[in-house]
Amino acid sequence: MRRYPQLYQQSIEQPEQFWAEQAKRIPWMMPPTTVLSYDEQQHARWFADGEMNLCHAALDYHVDQGRGEQAAIFWDSPVTQTEQTITYRQLRDRVAAFAGGLQQLGVVKGYRVVIYMPMIPEAVVAMYACARLGAIHSVVFGGFAPHELAARIEDAAPKVVVAASCGIEGGKVVAYKPIIDQALALSPHQPDACIIKVRAECDVEFNEREYDWEAVVSQATPADCVPVKGTDPLYVLYTSGTTGKPKGIVRDTAGYAVALAYSMEAIYALAPGDVFFTASDVGWVVGHSYIVYGPLLHGCSTVLYEGKPVKTPDAGSFWRLIEKYNVTSFFSAPTAFRAIKKEDPDAQWLSKYDISCLKHLYVAGERLDPPTYHWLDDLLDVPVIDHWWQTETGWPIAANLPGIEPMPTKAGSATVPVPGFNVQVLNRDGEQAAPMEQGSVVIKQPMPPGCLTGVWGDPKRFHSAYMAAFPGYYLTGDGGFFDEQGYLFIMGRTDDVINVAGHRLSTGEMEEVVGGHPSVAECAVIGVHDDLKGQLPVGLVIPKDGYTEGEEALEAALIARVREQIGPVACFKQVIVVDRLPKTRSGKILRKLLRNLADGQEVGIPSTIDDPTSVDDVHRAMCDHRIGRANETPPHA
Ligand code: COA
Ligand code: AMP
Repeated sequence: MRRYPQLYQQSIEQPEQFWAEQAKRIPWMMPPTTVLSYDEQQHARWFADGEMNLCHAALDYHVDQGRGEQAAIFWDSPVTQTEQTITYRQLRDRVAAFAGGLQQLGVVKGYRVVIYMPMIPEAVVAMYACARLGAIHSVVFGGFAPHELAARIEDAAPKVVVAASCGIEGGKVVAYKPIIDQALALSPHQPDACIIKVRAECDVEFNEREYDWEAVVSQATPADCVPVKGTDPLYVLYTSGTTGKPKGIVRDTAGYAVALAYSMEAIYALAPGDVFFTASDVGWVVGHSYIVYGPLLHGCSTVLYEGKPVKTPDAGSFWRLIEKYNVTSFFSAPTAFRAIKKEDPDAQWLSKYDISCLKHLYVAGERLDPPTYHWLDDLLDVPVIDHWWQTETGWPIAANLPGIEPMPTKAGSATVPVPGFNVQVLNRDGEQAAPMEQGSVVIKQPMPPGCLTGVWGDPKRFHSAYMAAFPGYYLTGDGGFFDEQGYLFIMGRTDDVINVAGHRLSTGEMEEVVGGHPSVAECAVIGVHDDLKGQLPVGLVIPKDGYTEGEEALEAALIARVREQIGPVACFKQVIVVDRLPKTRSGKILRKLLRNLADGQEVGIPSTIDDPTSVDDVHRAMCDHRIGRANETPPHA
């Protein structure tokens, strides 16, 4: 008898029994008597009266169970030519000491700490130290500009900011201190203190509220784990929405821990003692869940890699790390493999390493495009698993589940809904779509443990962004369909969110930045297909009458403006100045039409269009600027 349908059914029909059973995977300080409850807005809450501490569950508990001398972290940093193995005992002690330092600076349960750090062990130490105290961390990805960091500091209102003196991006040193100084100058909220880990590559001068990481740690009394309620927040992680203001996704503690522990076995097919390598960044949800928390909750070792898939120093880095650390499951973004494939199409680097330890390869962050899937599948002897999830859910919504029952893979599909996620596809009328019919992918309430419990400081936004469109369902923002065999295909966002090199960005936010330039009358930013990064943003801009700087200078100014305000991670490098944009008679810019033009797809001209000739104008401009596949666009109907 097949195990998956049976378990899936049980998780949907009897969620309380199902998750009560899974809750036994983690050590509780006080086991919950209530498994599932609902808040005033009828959103699910898990394990509300249970008490635990995530740092205890991931570190102290394993040390007590005899795992103290096992590697918790393998840090591998080709950009600094450093490697470090940190055992569970060493990590627990480093975390306890840093938590003591935070405590001395006044950080207690419920306070926020913003962490702005690259892929160094101190980032993991800082996250766990917050968890140890019951403080709420908010990690900000290093590729964001001061303006974005400031917005997060303002929103999260941290007591302390923890940073490093620099990140190292491929070959270049990115100094963080000037970014933090600028962000703090912009933010109305001021933290009491900043703790900075000084790296050999970049020194800093400390001012009066800044503290050297090493000094903080050396003077600290180690702190104990503070018990927290199951529903107390562990972290806030900001993600792009459709507006300029990022959403602070709030994650609870116990539901998250239970979901991660379950996924380590069911999805990643890992046993305690195995090695998990997730090539992402601690600034993203993938890093939170499967570099920092999931592997250690499950007694595994995690690889922390400060490098890129290529050029640090070559396209063999991933294979080298898999061999070196005896990696069992490996996880990265499709764009990383496209980068490797571009540099090493015949996978010559792979032949230099023995990766027979590897059992499964996972990808997420964007859809695994069939050509990349086939390249990997032909190359490797292990299942290549595309799985779909988002910052909001914290763990995969759909996946192949080798830990339960391996299923045949279909190129382009994330396979089936993970137990706990009642995934449905709804058509425009809110009715269930037929197999093969595309629609909005939604999750019927209750969401399983691990998913967001709110938007930080903005309960109304939680409701309006996710729950209002289809009452009783969570709106994922993705479109897709089920096939006749129940395989789920996620085809792309239905909103203004784009995915650039596996990084989630908002075109709406870029439009706000571009539109804020004094010479811009109107603009649209669209995501355009890119062979390497999946999508790239392109700005189409109508200047104000009488603007003086000229097209080229305006384009350069707008590119610089997005880089300064959002950050290099936006990859905003293409702007076209146009005379007009296709709009409806009511003045709405036809963004979907623009996207189709740029992607070389057939374009139907809607009857509501104000001036059909604007389509030809903008298409010509796109072809002149070699945007996407515009020159392949068939004549429109
Ligand atoms: N700190 C500072 N700057 C950063 C940064 C960081 N942490 N991360 C990226 N940047 C900068 C880059 O240096 C680059 O700057 P540039 O415009 O001056 O060259 C810019 O942001 C764009 O970065 P990126 O999109 O990463 O491009 P890249 O050419 O450096 O690398 C890939 C391309 C595909 C190799 C890389 O994007 C990659 O490894 N992607 C995988 C992403 C991933 O793991 N996502 C998580 C989901 S699982
Ligand atoms: P993030 O919140 O940054 O993890 O981005 C989540 C978004 O990335 C999802 O809503 C999808 O649009 C996209 N995404 C992530 N994984 C996949 C996948 N396996 N297939 C298709 N889209 C994906």
